[in-house]
Parts: sequence; C-alpha cells; structure tokens
Amino acid sequence: MTVSTTATPLHALATRRSVKFLRAPAPKPDELEQILQAAMSAPDHGALRPWRFVVIQGEAIGKLADVALEAVKRSGDPRMTPEKEKSVREWMSAVPLFIGLAQKIAHDNTKIPEQEQLLAAGCATMNILNAVHMLGYGAFWSTGMGTYVEDVQNALGLDSLDYRFLGFLAVGTPACAVPPANRPNFSDFVTEWTGPV
Ligand SMILES: Cc1cc2nc3c(=O)[nH]c(=O)nc-3n(C[C@H](O)[C@H](O)[C@H](O)COP(=O)(O)O)c2cc1C
Repeated sequence: MTVSTTATPLHALATRRSVKFLRAPAPKPDELEQILQAAMSAPDHGALRPWRFVVIQGEAIGKLADVALEAVKRSGDPRMTPEKEKSVREWMSAVPLFIGLAQKIAHDNTKIPEQEQLLAAGCATMNILNAVHMLGYGAFWSTGMGTYVEDVQNALGLDSLDYRFLGFLAVGTPACAVPPANRPNFSDFVTEWTGPV
C-alpha cells in the first residue's frame, strides 16, 4: 500500500520538496484562496502583517517574462545570454501560476526590527509552500527573473522604497514524478544547552 506523502500533517512537512518544472493545472481558485489564507497564520511580531503577495497567472505570465527579462538585460547582467533567456521563457511558459513575494517595510515602526518583519514574510511564504504541497501541487521559490532589479518589483506595483522584493513562487502540477528528497539528520544541527559552560 502506498502511503500518501501528506497522510498526516507531520508527514506532509517532512515530505515537501521544491519542484521546479511545473505544468497546468494550477491550484483551483478555491484552493489558491486556502493557500494564500495559510500565509496569514505566520508568526508576526506586532501584528504588522508585513507580507504581500502578487498573483500572476494566465496571459500575465507572458507579460511578466517580457518585463522581467527586458529589465534584467537593461541592467547589464552578463548571465542573461540569449540561451539563458530562451530557457527561462520556456520554463515560465509552462508554469501556470506565479506568486510574487514581498515584505512591506514598516518605515515608521521603531519597535519591531526590520529583520523580524522579513522573517515573518519568510514564514508566510513557507506556509504557502507547505499548503501547496498539502493540496497535492508543487512549488519552487526563485530569486531569478529580475528579483533584485528594481524595475521588476516596481512593475508589479511594489515600489522599492516601500517593499523589499523576495522573489517568485512558481506553482503548479509537477511535470514529472518527484522522488523523495535526501534530508540531513536534525541531530547535526541541534545542540542542547544545559547551562553556562
Ligand atoms: C529565498 C530563496 C530563494 C531561492 N532562489 C532560488 C533560485 O533563484 N534558483 C534556484 O535554483 N533555487 C533557489 N532557491 C532554492 C529552491 O527554491 C529550493 O529550496 C532548493 O532547490 C532546495 O529544494 P528543497 O526546497 O526541496 O529543499 C531559493 C530558495 C530560497 C529560500
């Protein structure tokens, strides 16, 4: 008998892995709502809700490819060769849904360090990744596609003065079978502190 990778919540957390190559179908509209709602449960010091998401689907994905790739080329990034552009366009054209990720910078807040706001936005994004997996889809967090080129986030309505852009999630159905990931043992990353040495 095959046990579903999402049979229990803990099993789902342990089996999530990133899937870069995706195709249609994307999560259905009601599923996408559940996925985005999961982000709202992220830990959040001061209830600043510092996360913002931009849903990009359908014909807008081709427009995103145009905007992002042109901006990267204008920036003079030598890695954006014609071959690279072709492969990024091909990859993007197969992905049915992108979610732009951003942290809204709380300029006036003196109590919650910006680092904590960034962490909250990261936690919200992690909830999205897990929710996508729990619903049987795949996702991949990328900081390609001009994430660090200001024109790209500005084109998405995320003024670089007010938002730190955190990249894109590609979301869809895995294009091929996804073998389990090889994960390290937690004990290599954990110590127990029992008092001052
Ligand atoms: C903030 C962030 C940005 C990332 N950007 C890229 C990227 O641009 N290209 C890439 O190949 N992987 C990128 N990754 C890594 C993949 O999303 C993924 O985590 C990695 O391939 C490992 O897969 P796993 O999530 O199954 O462990 C990024 C991860 C994070 C957290």
